[in-house]
Amino acid sequence: MLSLMQSEVRKQNGVYYTPEGVAASLVRWAVRHPTDRMLDPSCGDGRFLALHRESTGVEQDSYALPKATAGAPWATIHRGDFFTWAERTNQRFDCAAGNPPFIRYQRWTGDIRQRALALCSRHGANFSSLSSSWAPFLVATSTLLKKGGRMAFVVPAEIGHATYAVPLLEYFAGNFSVVLVIAIQDRVFSGLSEDCWLLYADGFGGSTDHIRLTQRQSFCYDPQVPQDFERVSLTDWRHWRSRLRPFLLPGAIRSFYRELADGPTTVRLGDVARVGIGYVTGANSFFHLRPSEAERAGIPQRFLHPSVRNGGTLPRAAVTHATVRAWLNQDKPVLLLRIGDGQTLPSAVVRHLQTSEATQAKQAYKCRMRDPWYVVPDVHVPDAFLAYMSGHEVAFVANSAKCVCTNSVHTVRLNNGVSVEALRRGWSSSLARLSCEVEGHPLGGGLLKLEPREAANLVLPNVRKAELRPLRLLDEGTEIMRQWRHYGQRT
Ligand SMILES: C[S@@+](CC[C@H](N)C(=O)[O-])C[C@H]1O[C@@H](n2cnc3c(N)ncnc32)[C@H](O)[C@@H]1O
Repeated sequence: MLSLMQSEVRKQNGVYYTPEGVAASLVRWAVRHPTDRMLDPSCGDGRFLALHRESTGVEQDSYALPKATAGAPWATIHRGDFFTWAERTNQRFDCAAGNPPFIRYQRWTGDIRQRALALCSRHGANFSSLSSSWAPFLVATSTLLKKGGRMAFVVPAEIGHATYAVPLLEYFAGNFSVVLVIAIQDRVFSGLSEDCWLLYADGFGGSTDHIRLTQRQSFCYDPQVPQDFERVSLTDWRHWRSRLRPFLLPGAIRSFYRELADGPTTVRLGDVARVGIGYVTGANSFFHLRPSEAERAGIPQRFLHPSVRNGGTLPRAAVTHATVRAWLNQDKPVLLLRIGDGQTLPSAVVRHLQTSEATQAKQAYKCRMRDPWYVVPDVHVPDAFLAYMSGHEVAFVANSAKCVCTNSVHTVRLNNGVSVEALRRGWSSSLARLSCEVEGHPLGGGLLKLEPREAANLVLPNVRKAELRPLRLLDEGTEIMRQWRHYGQRT
């Protein structure tokens, strides 16, 4: 039995083993001849190695190594970091198969990451430091293939939308003659909220001008790669901001959306407004007071600004004075302690900044990093708020009460001459709904996330020119995209 700590460490290192049917499918496709040399760069308990005798694995988890050796006694298994080994080895392989560790950039730090990114860069794949580990793993693996070699891997569904998947797919198209992605709607790993797809690449040393994309409802064992694929030309893929996700839509819906987006009756949100993030205090519970606390401390009104603390508190249409009154009557902690740089502080505020809560807040990372620690930067009054994590509809809410907001919601500041009412009308259209699904991206558990740069791409009808009646084709597209993010399904 693993201790809680061991299992936490293993989670951090992306230790999720592949279901046997999936491993078998990938190996059966990758290995064409019994003498083919196969590499699994992160072999875990060796379940890929156990499927082929001429196999080599690398693994850094000492807990997994004995299992790998027991399961595949014929295999050569190297202990340690794959990138270090990859830089030094002269060995070359006919094929590779496996499931790379999925460690997000916040946790994937230090020497190993540096070495990985440098190695990929030498081979023409330039990943930023915001890349998750799996993408550089795949590039580094490909560099150990013989000419004509192939690889088959489990990949997170983020390959369909993440910014860091762009250098990966560009590299694969530039170095393999066939690149195939199988998008699988149902979960491949039970107990993991992450969706997984499959990536196959053949003919190392060649290149291609398109990516093959196949959609499957659920995983099915198949030692052949599917022949029912859509040919996504790189030109088309780049036009869709180098994302495969929009290609999950049927062609007719995708073309209609693009026609509308490129036509004269629509605008991109980024053309009429600036979308940004709310402020970061570093110590939310200290900086947000309840009316009763503010009164007890004697803090003057001019140092208190009503704030939207999170998307869940947003009403449907507008944050009005009545909304704020209701929050205050319920004694909600919504009053931001808002102190301007260089502002003269009355004694009540000075006292408040000397309480034990203040001493504790001062130690928070963000507070330590700024001077003075109690001046929260980037506090703006936006024209509207935009939810950035949503279940069903994405809320776009007018800010009639001139509140501020934390970084749990986005701020929308309109360009001159644009009215919030007009944007809100456009927001209720079929086009805007589909656009949220196409331009945003799924998070585990059915949620849709919209980063500010994604929100800027949202397509809205220009209400002066366009019809707002529901458009069946677009609504159908929204439904399809919601199925891909499992909205409303039990997780
Ligand atoms: C998703 S698991 C896959 C294991 C196995 N291939 C499978 O699919 O069942 C990823 C593995 O990568 C290993 N790993 C993480 N970072 C590594 C590194 N830098 N070098 C080698 N292995 C690493 C983890 O310990 C983990 O066993």
